[in-house]
Amino acid sequence: MKITEAITYVGVDDKTIDLFENQYIVPNGISYNSYLIMDEKVALMDTVDIRGLEQWKENVEAALGGRDIDYIVVSHMEPDHAGSLAYALENYPNAKIVGNAKTFIFLSQFFTLDVTDRKIEVKEGDVLDLGTRKLTFMMAPMVHWPEVMVSYESTDKVLFSADGFGKFGALDTDEDWACEARRYYFNIVGKYGAPVQALLKKTAALDIQKILPLHGPILTDNLEYYINLYNTWSSYTPENKGVYIAYASIHGNTGKAAETLAEKIRELGEEKVVVADLSREDIAECVEDAFRYDRMVLCSATYDGNAFLPMEDFLHHLQIKTYQNRKVALLENGTWAPMAAKSMRSYLESMKNITVIGETVSIKSTLKEGDMPAVEALAKAVVEAGK
Ligand code: FEO
Repeated sequence: MKITEAITYVGVDDKTIDLFENQYIVPNGISYNSYLIMDEKVALMDTVDIRGLEQWKENVEAALGGRDIDYIVVSHMEPDHAGSLAYALENYPNAKIVGNAKTFIFLSQFFTLDVTDRKIEVKEGDVLDLGTRKLTFMMAPMVHWPEVMVSYESTDKVLFSADGFGKFGALDTDEDWACEARRYYFNIVGKYGAPVQALLKKTAALDIQKILPLHGPILTDNLEYYINLYNTWSSYTPENKGVYIAYASIHGNTGKAAETLAEKIRELGEEKVVVADLSREDIAECVEDAFRYDRMVLCSATYDGNAFLPMEDFLHHLQIKTYQNRKVALLENGTWAPMAAKSMRSYLESMKNITVIGETVSIKSTLKEGDMPAVEALAKAVVEAGK
């Protein structure tokens, strides 16, 4: 697939993988993107996961049309991109390998390859001259590993953005970009909002016509839309006004209370109320939705003196992903000693700028008529907090 006259896509779709990073379900697979720039010199921009090696070899050979590779640029050493690097280095022995100081440290950890005579170590602002095309390197540490760098090609005006602007889903998947890009972002890059903000500032002055990420579609139109979303996400600003109600229920009673609360919130005119059963929903989707909306309600049964484990697990995920700047309300359930709210609060207290809203509702075993004034008061507090 030609992207510009000089740039060809040589990546592969992986539609048989069950779990990306051995943790994320990817119902529509994932793509490992790799590109060839054919100018006076030929540069290969990253390789692919070893799972895609055979198809990738064919793609590269077809695109090369008999030419050799002069440079192999490594934007990111994670094995979903550098997994086929050993093959590339062995089979294109004339190619120099381009990376930064950290790239070469990680390379020596993943592979027993001596690249001393072949390495070109670059730093911020260095330019690789390919002829008409010139690649300028910009370091992007922690987007999503420390060695990550992006590069800007100034003739075709394209940004090779590494994991940034990536998305779950193979390239032939016809689906909304934001949905799976958001799940990808918050679960994979979410912890690194500040480095993403720094990268956005660095690239803001560039005239970018196309964004070429390492996963997902090449972005060619309306780039402002994607960049604005990345700005929202990485600044921990809620994307949508709405209430996300996540519940962890052992026998269904806490779930019923959560649904009742959702009804009360809707009755007060709130347009977007999303209810999720943490025992059944994809945890990565739950993390995504927690970040997406401006308010969240946590409803949990008590279990072994804590919140029920699906809730503990969810909050641990949010803590690791640096969930912040949100308003949160609590509902707990317990048959003899309700303790879930105490545990949920302890997670929230460890997070930045979380406001606990309303009076926490505490029910015993099942929601009863007598609990309704407290539920209605909490619903009102949640709606007011969104105004
Ligand atoms: Fe797609 Fe951080 O690797």
